[in-house]
Amino acid sequence: MSKSIATAVAHPNIAFIKYWGNRDDALRIPMNASLSMNLAALSTTTSVEFRCDLQQDDLLIDGQSAAPAALQRVSAFLDIVREQMPEKQHAIIISRNNFPMGAGIASSASAFAALAAAASHAAGLDLDEAALSRLARRGSGSACRSIPAGFVEWLPGREDESSYAVSFAPAGHWNLVDLIAVVNRTHKEVGSTAGHALAATSPLQSARVSDCPRRLALCRQAILEKDFVAFAAIVELDSDMMHAVMQTSTPPLLYWEAATLELMQKVRSWRSQGLPVCYTIDAGPNVHVLCQQQDATQVEELLEQITAAQAVYRSDTGSGVQLV
Ligand code: PMV
Repeated sequence: MSKSIATAVAHPNIAFIKYWGNRDDALRIPMNASLSMNLAALSTTTSVEFRCDLQQDDLLIDGQSAAPAALQRVSAFLDIVREQMPEKQHAIIISRNNFPMGAGIASSASAFAALAAAASHAAGLDLDEAALSRLARRGSGSACRSIPAGFVEWLPGREDESSYAVSFAPAGHWNLVDLIAVVNRTHKEVGSTAGHALAATSPLQSARVSDCPRRLALCRQAILEKDFVAFAAIVELDSDMMHAVMQTSTPPLLYWEAATLELMQKVRSWRSQGLPVCYTIDAGPNVHVLCQQQDATQVEELLEQITAAQAVYRSDTGSGVQLV
């Protein structure tokens, strides 16, 4: 029996300039460039074993058989890898997160980055970083940003070949910390794949997209110069603009809850009192609170005093995907 196996570890990432809406939904070619950092403290480890004796793929996540919808999404992704295999085989996929799946922390970026690296390696494909990033993008757009290390920019491109992510500063460049304040652990009703498809229905999306190069340049420059004041201003603006698009699409998506708003206001009032801190929010109610290492313990303590924050996860900037 022929078999080939590989294991990879990847971190999720938090976007400072957000990706929302696709030029091509099937290929996940985004409408705009985005910018993020990987989160060292959180990781997904995935093994893929292609075997000639399997009739279908088998997916275990954190020790449990995956739901049919998750298996279908992973199998469709593996079909892209199988297209390039001389002998098409099904696989056993075993994936573990070091953070609870139901914690309200998106795991699709680390999941598809680890899966892309493990599956392509197990299949004997020798992909460079850009090709691996393009492959991960097909599973979840933001997963392409979890392939390179540290601070990452997703070059949007216009077709498959030109849409991939690159690192523009290593993980050690700036001591940024992400404190994720979890206010709701339940799964969101409208996931990001369905959300991207609604973006174009908002009259605000074209303004958000056309202004993106300006915001991205300011954010990249703030990171390169380690200018937290400039960073905070552009990161909050970008997050608020994405949520304005979400809230004005048809049907509208409102991911914020009362606790989300409470945290946004708290972060702004701490900043007005001189604490260098800002927020960013993805397609869910939880609030990513960003600061520098020297302020992280104080910010963490402040967050822990807020009853609405059920848990706080703390992470430094992380490396890219790695085979183990
Ligand atoms: O990769 P997806 O399809 O889960 O989309 C991610 C979208 C946001 O998290 C809201 C923004 C981003 O750039 O990560």
